[in-house]
Amino acid sequence: MADPAKKDEAAGRKDVPQDAVPNLTKVEVAEATTIAEVETVLDAPVERGEPILQVRNLVKHFPLTQGILFRRQIGAVKAVDGLSFDLYQGETLGIVGESGCGKSTVAKLLMTLETATAGEVFYKGQDITKLSGRALKAVRRNIQMVFQDPYTSLNPRMTVGDIIGEPFEIHPEVAPKGDRRRKVRDLLDVVGLNPEYINRYPHQFSGGQRQRIGIARGLALNPEIIICDEPVSALDVSVQAQVINLMEKLQDEFNLSYIFIAHDLSIVRHISDRVGVMYLGKMAEIGTDTEIYDHPTHPYTQALLSAVPVPDPAAREGRERIILVGDVPSPANPPSGCRFRTRCWKAEDKCAKEVPLLAIPQRFVGANTPAAHESACHFAEEKDVVHA
Ligand SMILES: Nc1ncnc2c1ncn2[C@@H]1O[C@H](COP(=O)(O)OP(=O)(O)O)[C@@H](O)[C@H]1O
Ligand code: SF4
Ligand SMILES: [Mg+2]
Repeated sequence: MADPAKKDEAAGRKDVPQDAVPNLTKVEVAEATTIAEVETVLDAPVERGEPILQVRNLVKHFPLTQGILFRRQIGAVKAVDGLSFDLYQGETLGIVGESGCGKSTVAKLLMTLETATAGEVFYKGQDITKLSGRALKAVRRNIQMVFQDPYTSLNPRMTVGDIIGEPFEIHPEVAPKGDRRRKVRDLLDVVGLNPEYINRYPHQFSGGQRQRIGIARGLALNPEIIICDEPVSALDVSVQAQVINLMEKLQDEFNLSYIFIAHDLSIVRHISDRVGVMYLGKMAEIGTDTEIYDHPTHPYTQALLSAVPVPDPAAREGRERIILVGDVPSPANPPSGCRFRTRCWKAEDKCAKEVPLLAIPQRFVGANTPAAHESACHFAEEKDVVHA
């Protein structure tokens, strides 16, 4: 069992009082050593609302090398640089941030498709960054992914039936050979496609239908967690809502927990219970949808929200649009202190010297206000942002 003080230390929040860290819960490290014990841990059910995935201080640096014969490392792209958050069973955690801030890298780390440079990902108390072989295979069955681009993520030479049924080749225990066609037909039905389409090819479907095929494939192994990396970004606005509604329906039906990644704040609100805002490999702010959308305290979130189009002309009138200056700095050479300081209108000397911790701002600790949520800013305060 993890010591709470150690847990806070691991999460980089030594100075933060206990009651100020509601988004991170204590990690109950599983005491499993043999493969059989690990499998038992991974198969154990998690109560709704309990943490199912606990990410602690996750880091991914991609080495930058130079030279042809003798490759020397000259630096690193700090794609993910100390990320901690929990995912609760049955919830949808939205993760938003501009392109290049590390969202897809987080998704790949959680899927164990990339190896973490440092940090831990506890799934049911089991650190999956340290697993291999059979145990890792069992984890991969339970954590599935839906990709961004339904045009390139489906193999054009495979039939829909083969695409959806492909995961059964790796996990035959989920569906014996004789039962696979029936299972695939069921999955097509579940995602709102005609089971008769089983022998068609991806090009015979629209973008929205293709994403339904991607979702059916993600569901094939009865996972517990689905990581959706910009699942509707490539779709027409009219189709986005249909796919999101389908995902919500499936979440209830199959008791799923979602991590829903997007670069657009307006898409995420509808589906998310909580939202984390990322900037340059770090979490800038995290809270419930009301806390983030109606009471943002981090200047970056406030700027992103001020850029969301407002359809109501009356609401639009007198609205302050926060224009961010400059480009996103390179993750190979992030600014000292607060990474957002080069674009922040509130930056002061302290911002260049001290890294702001992701914590409830001191002025709000213990206060009964939606502004009392975690924000990585030395000068966090509420600001009225009119948005849709
Ligand atoms: N395999 C890789 N090798 C080197 N750099 C990478 C690799 N994958 C991603 N990056 C870099 O890491 C940063 C974060 O990328 P990514 O996670 O794809 O961001 P997002 O999904 O938020 O757009 C970017 O600067 C990107 O160029
Ligand atoms: S810590 Fe400073 S630079 Fe960073 S967001 Fe807050 S005010 Fe801006
Ligand atoms: Mg991405």
